[in-house]
Amino acid sequence: MSAAEPSHGAGAGVGRFAELAAAVGAVASSGAVGAVESVGADEAGAAASAPVSAELTVDDPERMHAFGLEVGRRLGAGDLVLLAGDLGAGKTTFTRGLGEGLGVRGPVTSPTFVLARTHPSLVGGAPLVHVDAYRLGSALELDDLDIDFEHAVVVVEWGAGLIEALADSWLSITIDRPHGAGPAQDDEPDEGAEPVEPRRVSLTPVGGRWS
Ligand SMILES: Nc1ncnc2c1ncn2[C@@H]1O[C@H](COP(=O)(O)OP(=O)(O)O)[C@@H](O)[C@H]1O
Ligand SMILES: [Mg+2]
Repeated sequence: MSAAEPSHGAGAGVGRFAELAAAVGAVASSGAVGAVESVGADEAGAAASAPVSAELTVDDPERMHAFGLEVGRRLGAGDLVLLAGDLGAGKTTFTRGLGEGLGVRGPVTSPTFVLARTHPSLVGGAPLVHVDAYRLGSALELDDLDIDFEHAVVVVEWGAGLIEALADSWLSITIDRPHGAGPAQDDEPDEGAEPVEPRRVSLTPVGGRWS
């Protein structure tokens, strides 16, 4: 972990999630700052009106990568990201950027035949553990992978519904294709067959690490 990087932001006042939402807005859509549209403040007007979620439009794969990079720059050991979205939505494209932002060894690819792949840090920081939970049937199977959540940044594709039993705080990111899934999926979602189309992305922090 390089000393200069703000990491966990404990006591940072603004809140770690608010900082993240502001940063990713700058890279998301058409390069415009402020692309984060609904930073849903709590209606009760609670303390510091911390955002409870953020939504943004990500126009193309390059921006998805840049979005991942901005997120990755802000992650450290113990952070967990839960990625949801259909095949071809852009989860792996995002994770590739995230790995670059973290400074881990690539390449980050769809871990289709490997349940979890560890990418060591090139900068003395936390490794990235990239998990594909698509074939996992239960939280127990996920637990069996013996992932060192405490010392790694863990990104789980398809982990919703499984991770809740194993962790108490994570960043949930959902990638949607508002214009539909297009033609039938082939077996190689990484082969660049998806036409460039904007994605709707929502980010929701869960638990104490993001407040
Ligand atoms: N706005 C966009 N954001 C991300 N990927 C996009 C976008 N538009 C088109 N694509 C394409 O969609 C595909 C996403 O693939 P991938 O990241 O492997 O998805 P997943 O891991 O969710 O299955 C890539 O071929 C990418 O080029
Ligand atoms: Mg993938």
